[in-house]
Amino acid sequence: MSSAGGDSQSDPRAELRDIVAGTREWLVELAEEGLDDLKIPVIEPAMAKPAAPSPPEPAEPKAPVHREAPARADLSLLRDGPDWGPSPTLDTVRETLGDCTRCELCARRQTIVFGSGNPDADLMFVGEGPGEQEDKQGLPFVGRAGELLTQMIEKGIEIPRPDVYICNIVKCRPPGNRNPKPDEVAACRPFLDGQIAAVKPKVIVTLGKPAASLLLGRDVPITRVRGTWHEYQGIPLMPTLHPAFILRQYTPENRRLVWEDLKAAVARMRELGGRA
Ligand code: URA
Repeated sequence: MSSAGGDSQSDPRAELRDIVAGTREWLVELAEEGLDDLKIPVIEPAMAKPAAPSPPEPAEPKAPVHREAPARADLSLLRDGPDWGPSPTLDTVRETLGDCTRCELCARRQTIVFGSGNPDADLMFVGEGPGEQEDKQGLPFVGRAGELLTQMIEKGIEIPRPDVYICNIVKCRPPGNRNPKPDEVAACRPFLDGQIAAVKPKVIVTLGKPAASLLLGRDVPITRVRGTWHEYQGIPLMPTLHPAFILRQYTPENRRLVWEDLKAAVARMRELGGRA
């Protein structure tokens, strides 16, 4: 937990403030890691807009849609992945993905959600995996979290959404929006790498802990790494909070953090000659 500094030792109120701030930071991290039942205290309730109640999740389809999932992922394919060469096109990557049955997510998906946006985008966003709306529509970030992401892009950093490229770690919806399992992530990773190789963005923004952890190659505490620069395959990478998390914790502070991360990402993209 963080401490604001030496003042708190002589001032019990400052000490209490430190404890509350540190505890809140820890709870935010736990919530980001998937402990959604936690009710994180919002320190400035008067300023926070309450999140709209989520519509009830419809029951999962009882029967699998029609594809047979492999008993286990094909590990040889996971290890090697396709060789994209230096400049694949998004079409090649999509064609190679095909009507994928490389992991068990294929059994219950309605559509593969490959990605959307400008194939030459200078700014690329990587989320976790499709939700219910995305699975229905075949497009990433078109549900409630997607609406917020669209606002962040179009109103926040003032770039038309079609000018950026948006995709996810996994291309099929994990049932009930659970976190994708390691073998599912491994099965899809070559296609994310193919998308990055095809788009060649100047800057990548990861949304939430799973995308940051995957591309940074280690389990990262998102609240600590957000707002700090990293690299993926030589491309500057800025981790930020996931819009679904912001919807759950719609505080001025969380919105400010994302705003700062996106502003930094756009500034870096422009420094590197990006156009949007
Ligand atoms: N959350 C994600 O991570 N990706 C989507 O496409 C939608 C919601």
